[in-house]
Amino acid sequence: MDKIIINGGKRLEGTIKISGSKNASLPILMATLLTDKLCSFACVPYLYDVKTIISLLTHLGKTIKREDDRVWVSSSGNICLEAPYDLVCKMRASVLVMGPLLARYGKVKVSLPGGCAIGSRPINLHLDGFKKLGAEISIRKGFIHLSAKRGLKGEKIFLDFPSVGATENLMMAAVLAKGSTVLENVACEPEIVDLASFLNKMGARIFNAGTNIIEIHGVKELKGAEHSVIPDRIETGTYLLAVALTRGKAKILNVNLTHLEIVIAKMKEAGVEIRFDDSTMEVSASENLKPVDINTSPYPGFPTDMQAQWMAFMSVIPGESIIYETVFENRFMHVAELQRMGANIRVKGDLAVINGVDKLSGVPVKATDLRASAALVLAGLVAEGETSIADIYHLDRGYESIEKKLGQLGAEIRRES
Ligand code: UD1
Repeated sequence: MDKIIINGGKRLEGTIKISGSKNASLPILMATLLTDKLCSFACVPYLYDVKTIISLLTHLGKTIKREDDRVWVSSSGNICLEAPYDLVCKMRASVLVMGPLLARYGKVKVSLPGGCAIGSRPINLHLDGFKKLGAEISIRKGFIHLSAKRGLKGEKIFLDFPSVGATENLMMAAVLAKGSTVLENVACEPEIVDLASFLNKMGARIFNAGTNIIEIHGVKELKGAEHSVIPDRIETGTYLLAVALTRGKAKILNVNLTHLEIVIAKMKEAGVEIRFDDSTMEVSASENLKPVDINTSPYPGFPTDMQAQWMAFMSVIPGESIIYETVFENRFMHVAELQRMGANIRVKGDLAVINGVDKLSGVPVKATDLRASAALVLAGLVAEGETSIADIYHLDRGYESIEKKLGQLGAEIRRES
């Protein structure tokens, strides 16, 4: 299995371009199940998770063509209504087949996704919402069976927690339901807005996506559409921190500042300089950085997907900082590996207390999940000596050509098979 090897200590400098958002691409590609007409996309990142969703859509009967960051999805109309375990277990976002297939065909069978490295991650909010829209649900032999023989009917649904996946699944189900649906206490993430924007281009009638109450007026059918996916805000944040950690200076192209306000505010509080002009950011950092606490929370709060990278950053800033993880129950898997590199971190339940050390040391480490592996890459960039990161398929799930982009900025990084 591939490894990433980093020789730390290089100051990052130069220009890189951010890819399209992984977490927007996945639901948007899934939304093509709502029509047989041709849909075409630009700015789709070349990632393992996108490959998995393309395999899933192909398994379901879609024809997919890919050229660089462009993707075309079409179908002859013969769609299979079952998402098997071998694809669902590779990527939890596979459960997003439920909304579109239930809405369009009134029936779908999906393997239960199970837990994952960052927690048990139930899908009760998705299922409760489908029930409210009129679906019957049963769980048999490891599969969830959903059916709505007479179609779905618009309803008012309140989510107990603003789950990103549940908001996306219910939005995709409600677009073809009879009447109006009001989704309350929903997720406001930019990826939700991007999905709604694509669905509206297909002819859906979704209002107020990006606020915590979304209204959807059901329509009879959707058509094909073209869409360009938004820039990946987590990839952007990860590179901003990489440059800051190495006290470097870089220009980052294809970014959306409004999607990253809290991360930028926290970085500025730590002493990092960030300037922006349209879709370009310039980041630079000196030696004088100070520790800053964060609490993760749903958007517009500090993203849980940036928590591990923030911890790597705080690990080498003198003084004490606290991280409070409120979104996932078990998202400190990276701590043990950072400790092996010399970081001083104590964990108590959902809290991590970090005391910045003068230096980290390069050692062999193991990636445990996607963002944990990004944190290890960041730590490796400033560690003394060689850091070798195993199990980097996690990294390939969410970062396009990370070794090339960091290499472009002057990092000494290579992939070994
Ligand atoms: C999405 C993102 C992931 C990000 C997360 C939170 C994608 C493909 N993935 O994941 O990168 O870390 O949002 O920003 O977009 N929960 C329930 N019941 C449910 C659904 C969720 O209890 O039915 C809980 C989860 O266990 C978790 C929290 O809600 O503790 C957030 O989960 P959710 O927002 O659904 O995350 P995902 O959509 O899985």
